[in-house]
Amino acid sequence: MDRTLLVLGAGSDQVFLMKTARSMGLRVIAVDMNPRARGFAFADEYAPVSTGDFDGIVSFAEHCALRGHRISGVMTMGSDIPEMVASVAARFGLPGIALESASLAKDKYAMKARFLEKEIPVPQFRKIFTPEELRLTVRELGLPLVLKPVDSSGSRGVFLLERHSDIEPLFEKSKPYSRSGALLAEEYLKGLQISTETIMSRSKGVTPGFADRNYDDLGRFLPQIMENGGWVPSSLNEREREEVEALVERASLALGITDGVTKGDVVMTAEGPKIIEMAARLSGGDFCESLVPLSAGVNYVKAAVSIALGEEPDLSGLRPKFSKAVVNRYFFPPPGRLISIEGAEEIRRHDWLKKLEFWYSPGDLIPPALSHAHRFGVFVAVADTREEADERARLVYETVRIRTEPTGTDYAKAS
Ligand SMILES: Nc1ncnc2c1ncn2[C@@H]1O[C@H](COP(=O)(O)OP(=O)(O)OP(=O)(O)O)[C@@H](O)[C@H]1O
Ligand SMILES: [Mg+2]
Repeated sequence: MDRTLLVLGAGSDQVFLMKTARSMGLRVIAVDMNPRARGFAFADEYAPVSTGDFDGIVSFAEHCALRGHRISGVMTMGSDIPEMVASVAARFGLPGIALESASLAKDKYAMKARFLEKEIPVPQFRKIFTPEELRLTVRELGLPLVLKPVDSSGSRGVFLLERHSDIEPLFEKSKPYSRSGALLAEEYLKGLQISTETIMSRSKGVTPGFADRNYDDLGRFLPQIMENGGWVPSSLNEREREEVEALVERASLALGITDGVTKGDVVMTAEGPKIIEMAARLSGGDFCESLVPLSAGVNYVKAAVSIALGEEPDLSGLRPKFSKAVVNRYFFPPPGRLISIEGAEEIRRHDWLKKLEFWYSPGDLIPPALSHAHRFGVFVAVADTREEADERARLVYETVRIRTEPTGTDYAKAS
């Protein structure tokens, strides 16, 4: 009997996982709270159940089992729900990471404390609950500092504190994004920011996902810290890359992840690589879905699926087959009402443009960019060199003209 993969979430972020699983001969069943989720089209069975609803997921899986599905693994992609994936895996005796590892990966404080204990280099950090504690931390650690909720994602409530920052208002802006009410204040690490994605198998890590993150537009968003896409391959040299790879392997093991996928945020500081955080999941967006396949001909989601089934992944398939420069970038037009998008057809004529998507239509209200959830659209361009890729990214930004008009509404409060 064919094996079945249970996928948590069936939105755009999970479609690539579902297609990959099908290409491996698996049957796919999926839940998503949206009854019209795009990914349902790729599922043999599906149900409108939230990925936060453990009992609903269990009932759905039991129902599918009665209908003849041999559920052999559970996974997601893009969605930061390692605790749910681990709990469902444990409930059905499927392969998966320990719940403790998943919980560590969801708590930025507990994770850093574990890294510190295992001598993994991290920025200095303090957990704080009040503006007074933040002021004390500023005095103790100095500036710049990064302020962030201990338990959020997508850059929500992540602020850079500098010499002239208004400390208390930024504390108040960040706090609502923290479910537990705790924030983290940590040393701002200077250096190239790297995103990694590591396949952990039998306590060994291979890191086919290795991108430089783009913060060229940081000034536009400050004090909010917002990434605007990235590049592959990385500009780091071989030795630096090996240092980062060794670090993310150690960090994965420090979290207790011997088999699975880990996604690291790393900074290449003057003292060597340090870890900002590590997620226990596959990336969403374009990283594992577009950047690495287009740059190196590698789809490591296959390896992640194999691990979720308890198999040894084909690590030889993770070696680059070629090398192209790939960039992804986002659109962040001024907030307001969207009037028009021009130039899209013109730029689509170029075969190096591999993706161009807008997530709003004329008439929609465009919120200010306060997190990744507020991105307006995305594009991916391929070239032979990074210089050429940058040139192409510039051309896309010049050609695509997005017009909005202010409406006078303060969306920041609504978001
Ligand atoms: N200590 C730090 N030093 C330098 N940069 C930092 C630090 N902490 C966070 N950043 C930057 O801010 C970004 C967002 O912070 P963080 O990863 O902690 O939050 P997040 O909500 O998980 O966001 P994302 O989804 O972008 O990773 C990081 O990816 C990094 O670029
Ligand atoms: Mg992060």
